[in-house]
Parts: sequence; structure tokens; C-alpha cells
Amino acid sequence: MTAKLIDGKALAAKIRADMKVKVAQLEAEHGYRPGLAVVLVGENPASQVYVRNKIKACEEAGIRSIEKRLPESTSEEDLLNLVRSLNEDPSVDGILVQLPLPKHISDLKVIDTISPDKDVDGFHVNSAGRLLVGRPGFRPCTPAGIAEMLDSIGFDCSGKRAVVVGRSNIVGKPMALMLLERNATVTIAHSRTKDLPAVCREADLLVVAVGRAKLVTADYVKEGAVVIDVGMDRDENGKLCGDVNTESVLEKASYVTPVPGGVGPMTIAMLLTNTVSAALGKFG
Ligand code: GUN
Repeated sequence: MTAKLIDGKALAAKIRADMKVKVAQLEAEHGYRPGLAVVLVGENPASQVYVRNKIKACEEAGIRSIEKRLPESTSEEDLLNLVRSLNEDPSVDGILVQLPLPKHISDLKVIDTISPDKDVDGFHVNSAGRLLVGRPGFRPCTPAGIAEMLDSIGFDCSGKRAVVVGRSNIVGKPMALMLLERNATVTIAHSRTKDLPAVCREADLLVVAVGRAKLVTADYVKEGAVVIDVGMDRDENGKLCGDVNTESVLEKASYVTPVPGGVGPMTIAMLLTNTVSAALGKFG
């Protein structure tokens, strides 16, 4: 089998265009524009690129971005106070604090200070709990984007074997729960899993989010499986690549997501989706 690539860039563009229409409707009907606060602490180069892309995507969709850049030396209390003031600000619908934060600041304290109503990243323990028990709430953007990609190829999870490699709170765990919600039979594999290739070969759907360049080869893939690559790694020549060796997997899978241009653009599209739904929530 020669796999098809799932074009995340094109799908994300479509979702972003849909959000632009919704934002324009909100403005026409209620004279209101959604606002997303984006907080960046310090000078982490990767975070600066991510934040720039998020702000640009907001602006293109007509969402106001409220950018807050703070120095590396910012105290935890000052950051918590900024989050509290954004919680109180009625023109702010979503709050995103870019991670990682400097070592002297607790990620957990900051995330848990964000009002659950404005938790567009879906990282708050309230959002995580809602996902766990199947109640509506903000879903983390990367797994939500992957769910959209699966819908776009007509992949019905019900009764399928899904293997999620990676158990992070941002991708692996919420992804597994979202696939369970869609009636897949889900396995979470991780660095201590014995015979990872054999576990992965069970999968009709294989989602890989471990941050190890080109880990997954054809040997990990069942004939006809759908392979989703969440990695953003560098290969031995410093070139951007994913956790999946795409070339090797293409001969066995039915669908593969490319890196770049696969899952990455979907994450931003879902951030806009969550921000627009936070704003729509205001108008019942
Ligand atoms: N750092 C890496 N990915 C993300 C993300 O999706 N949201 C936030 N807030 N920080 C990140």
C-alpha cells in the first residue's frame, strides 16, 4: 500500500476561514470581537516563533490578540497577578500562557489560575476532568486537531484498535481519552513499554507523540493503518522532521501526516476554534 498524506495545512486553512466567518458574524450581530490574550515569559526562541504564529493566525481570523511579553526575571506572583487581571477583563475570551515557563515559576500554579471559562489551551485541571468524565469543555488543541484530521478522511474510530505512543498531559493522555470517547479500543504506550514495535503493529490508528526523531519505521506499522505524527524534531542534519520515518511508513500505512504541514497547523486552528467558542458562550 502507498499511503496518502493528510494535508494539515489545507485543513487548518479551511477551519481558519470558517472561524473568520464566525468572527465576522459575531461582530455583525453583537458588535463584539473575540479576544485572545497570549502571554510569553522570557526569550525562548521556539516559544517566540509559536507565539508569533498564534498571534498572526488570530489577526487573520479577525480575533483581537492581546500580547503580554514579560522578562525572564518575572516573579511567579507577578505572572499570577497578570493572569488574575486577564480573568477579570471582559474583553478577553481566552488566555494562553506559552509553556515552558522559566524554572522559578510553577506551570501548574499558573495554569490553575487561568479561569476555566478562558482555558482555550484545555490544560486546566477542570478541562482535563471534564474530558475524563465526558462533559463538554475545552479540549487540548493538538488532540482536537488530530480528531478533525481523522474526520476529514472519514476514519471511524468505533471498534478500532488505537495505540497512542506518549503519555504527556498535553497530547498523549487527552488523545487517548478522546479516542476512547469515540469508541476506539485504546492503548497508551510509553518509554517503559516492552516491545514497542509489536504493540504499535496492533494499531489501526497509531498516534506518535514522543519527541524522538524518526522513531517509528515500517516495522511498527500494520498494513493499512493510519499514522499520525505529532513530533517536531530535528534529524541528524538538523532538518525538521517528526517522530515517524515517513518514507519508510508510506509503503505500509493507508494515511500518514507529514512534518511539517501535518498536525502542527491544526493545533493553531483549534486554538482559534476554542477562542471563538469561548466568545460565543457569552451570547448563549
Ligand atoms: N508549548 C508548546 N505547545 C504549547 C501549547 O499548545 N500551548 C501552550 N500554552 N504552550 C505550549
